[in-house]
Amino acid sequence: MPYQANPKRYDNMQYARSGRSGLQLPKISLGLWHNFGDVTQYDTSRNMIGTAFDLGITHFDLANNYGPPPGSAETNFGRILKQHFHAYRDEMIISSKAGYTMWPGPYGDWGSKKYLVSSLNQSLKRMGLDYVDIFYHHRPDPNTPLEETMAALDLIVRQGKALYVGISNYPADRAKEAIRILNALGTPCLIHQPKYSLFERWIEDGLQDVLQEEGVGSIAFSPLAGGLLTDRYLNGIPDDSRIASSSPSLTAEQLTQEKLNKINQLNQLAQRRGQKLSQMALAWVLRDGKVTSALIGASRVSQIVDAVMALDNIEFSQQELNEIERILA
Ligand SMILES: NC(=O)c1ccc[n+]([C@@H]2O[C@H](COP(=O)([O-])OP(=O)(O)OC[C@H]3O[C@@H](n4cnc5c(N)ncnc54)[C@H](OP(=O)(O)O)[C@@H]3O)[C@@H](O)[C@H]2O)c1
Repeated sequence: MPYQANPKRYDNMQYARSGRSGLQLPKISLGLWHNFGDVTQYDTSRNMIGTAFDLGITHFDLANNYGPPPGSAETNFGRILKQHFHAYRDEMIISSKAGYTMWPGPYGDWGSKKYLVSSLNQSLKRMGLDYVDIFYHHRPDPNTPLEETMAALDLIVRQGKALYVGISNYPADRAKEAIRILNALGTPCLIHQPKYSLFERWIEDGLQDVLQEEGVGSIAFSPLAGGLLTDRYLNGIPDDSRIASSSPSLTAEQLTQEKLNKINQLNQLAQRRGQKLSQMALAWVLRDGKVTSALIGASRVSQIVDAVMALDNIEFSQQELNEIERILA
């Protein structure tokens, strides 16, 4: 049976404009960093895309290196798209990135025009797409002039291979400069993708002000700290969790007793709000409207359903915010 999208998919999702652009993004977006590579069952990945889309999640975030192996998340997403979601391409915002090591030699990493253009060509081929909606430079490159990297993003838009461009992991001062260069080129920066969660708050120290002033959106990655800000690890490390997997991105060493104490206290506060900890963590990221979208990962359909339900309550009383600061101190 061909996939038929839920006709009510836009009834409950909330959308926010990315900075001063015309593009609206869902407040919850789905990232394909984990659980879409060749090591994951195809049906699991496909069902997560279907559930997300049926709940109004229109934005799917990829990168050249997502897998494992690198590239396989894009290949699998392309296959899923072609087989099931082809008719809905124009209802989707699909992003990709380049900036980390992708192939050997001097042209498969960092921020040269050569790397960015070649990598996006490869990503489009893997996904079977004519264009991506958003193309990012994945991390700042200390050795390539920012003018060259931004000129590559501008070129890619003019070639019709991306509709919008963004930057990721750029500190405040580099972001400000990148935004200035892109404005001068006539291809404004749509969005910045930084890491942001209750456990990772560097963007409050300057970057958020730059993005507000410049009218650039932001999409917070790893808002659940890879799963730490959920009920996953309250009673040990489950065999099917990210920590127990071979992913180097979250290891048992990161789950210190001090962190676990904070997780437990945050969990109690979430329960008093009538939410799961994961839902409170997403609500907190979205609490003041400075973040356009929270970019989650998921290993199963139920986690996507949980995330969307977080939007039922993203308000915090001053007392709750104070309590969070006390727990995190
Ligand atoms: N730009 C960058 O440099 C960069 C870097 C990293 C990520 N990203 C983007 O951000 C996306 C999200 O990153 P992330 O996967 O680290 O995000 P995350 O949302 O912080 O963590 C996702 C993980 O948390 C667990 N989880 C999610 N919902 C849960 C729930 N309701 N209950 C219990 N556990 C739950 C799952 O882990 P289990 O496997 O344990 O179930 C899931 O895989 C990526 O896919 C990618 O698109 C970008």
